[in-house]
Amino acid sequence: MKGTKIVLGVGGGIAAYKAVMLARELGRRGAELRVLLTPSATRFIGAPTFGGITGRAAITDLWDPGYPGEVHVELSEWADAMVIAPATANLMARVCAGMADDVVLATLSCMNGPRLLAPAMHERMWLSPATQRNAERLQKDGMQLVGPVRGPLASGESGWGRLAGAETIADAVEQAIATARAPEQARPLTGRHVVISAGPTQEDIDPVRFISNHSSGRMGFALARVAVARGARVSLVAGPTRIAPPEGAELHSVRSARDMQSAIESLVGDCHILIMSAAVADYRPAEIAEQKLKKADKGAEMRIELVKNPDILAGLGAARKGALPVLIGFAMETHDVLNYARGKLRSKGADLIVANEAAVGFGRDDTQVTLVSEENDEVLPPGSKLEAAARILDCAAERLEAAEASTTKS
Ligand code: CTP
Repeated sequence: MKGTKIVLGVGGGIAAYKAVMLARELGRRGAELRVLLTPSATRFIGAPTFGGITGRAAITDLWDPGYPGEVHVELSEWADAMVIAPATANLMARVCAGMADDVVLATLSCMNGPRLLAPAMHERMWLSPATQRNAERLQKDGMQLVGPVRGPLASGESGWGRLAGAETIADAVEQAIATARAPEQARPLTGRHVVISAGPTQEDIDPVRFISNHSSGRMGFALARVAVARGARVSLVAGPTRIAPPEGAELHSVRSARDMQSAIESLVGDCHILIMSAAVADYRPAEIAEQKLKKADKGAEMRIELVKNPDILAGLGAARKGALPVLIGFAMETHDVLNYARGKLRSKGADLIVANEAAVGFGRDDTQVTLVSEENDEVLPPGSKLEAAARILDCAAERLEAAEASTTKS
């Protein structure tokens, strides 16, 4: 994000302290920041806190002496994008009403570039009809909402209303700026249907236990975000994740490998590019116990019989025959990465395998992958998952064009 200028507005909620993490994440990506606090945000966090991170204390009033002109006008002209995190229910309502009586709202009302709001509040506030109505209104008015996500809330309860993670919000800002800068003709996937699987699957053992893996869904969500930005119609088939799915993708939430398979199979009819980035469980318990398994019945050892799950990618690869022009898989390996990736390219009938090493870690925002195809291995430099997603979709678009050109010829 080097060279990008962002205004971060902070609303008055308990999640205000997390705005510091967001400021740090945006700064780490190279963005230049100005931070604005609403009067109630100052009750949760101090203006000088942001000084240590951005080099300037946060601005808290419309008459800031550091700005000879009008702060809100100057900053809205200076910024490439504005993001408000956390956006409280009250702040959302005030934005809906067009109010501009503090420095955050006044600047937002002046912004021409992308405007993003990351809501955070108690679940009942989020689900209240007024807030839901306001959320819809804000989107109709051209603002993008990032989250909220489900998880532990300040009240000690768990539910919808938690602020999306700093990386998720930063991804959304980065993508919104890239989209705003890209002219209309730079949307090469317009009219294309891209199906992306993401995250882990969960295979039930009994009503309270399951087998799963560490996949966070970040890579698949980054792919979906870039594909949406490039104009594609995106179907995102996602296993359970803790991060917010990108705006603009059609979300199909699934749990088990078999759920994922039927969701994908129902979507591939008119699909141009399918990317299997999900970490699908290879095995599932042969039987799902109807009641919770009790250790008193099992003794010192317990065995669970597992049966193989369908290999979704291999199944699609074998059956494609002209349909499904571009098929891309992933390979996460602990050793011998490229050899295994080449093996999967053939055994699964894919056009491209995105190979990565498990040692890079899970749930991270950065990655290092190699794109393995019959023609060559392209080693991508270490970078963000959004950057990797952009290159993967470049390759997918090139392959789609080539596939269509050869169909036209024959
Ligand atoms: N995949 C799939 N269905 C499965 C298992 C994997 O569609 N049941 C897909 C994944 O989404 C990924 C690719 O196949 O795109 C490779 O997955 P990976 O887990 O690396 O390989 P496996 O085939 O499961 O082989 P192994 O676990 O032995 O490495």
